[in-house]
Amino acid sequence: MTQLTQEQKQELIRAALKAREQAVTPYSHFKVGAALRAEDGRVYTGCNIENAAFTPTSCAERTALFKAVSEGVTRFTDIAVVGSREGEVNTLVTAPCGVCRQALYEFCGDGLNVIMAKTPEDFIERSLGELLPFGFGAANVL
Ligand code: THU
Repeated sequence: MTQLTQEQKQELIRAALKAREQAVTPYSHFKVGAALRAEDGRVYTGCNIENAAFTPTSCAERTALFKAVSEGVTRFTDIAVVGSREGEVNTLVTAPCGVCRQALYEFCGDGLNVIMAKTPEDFIERSLGELLPFGFGAANVL
């Protein structure tokens, strides 16, 4: 798998920042955006969408993933994630929660590159295998 260029990574982060603007967060006021890049270069974005009953809340990463999968796209190379409280500047990077790591693992396995960004210039990257070691997947079940 070829790595994205610095410019492509920054573009993906900008897409995540734009998606974050749509976050629906009346309860936590913590807004997250994600941009998931398919193998063919198409980008699917998502934001977190909260719910009064809390449990039905969708994280930004799963919103993006399920948008893509629902359109028949199931192979991905990278995901950019940005998060911070409403109106505040990032101090920490936002890493995907455990549920999202598992949901991504189903389609991406260890190889997905996860870009956790404060700004387009300030980010860290880890593989999904590093974030979810010994992931449980189809190979365990089938
Ligand atoms: N959240 C995400 O959207 N992605 C993450 O990786 C971490 C958490 C959302 C869920 C909830 O709406 C808010 O952030 C606070 O947990």
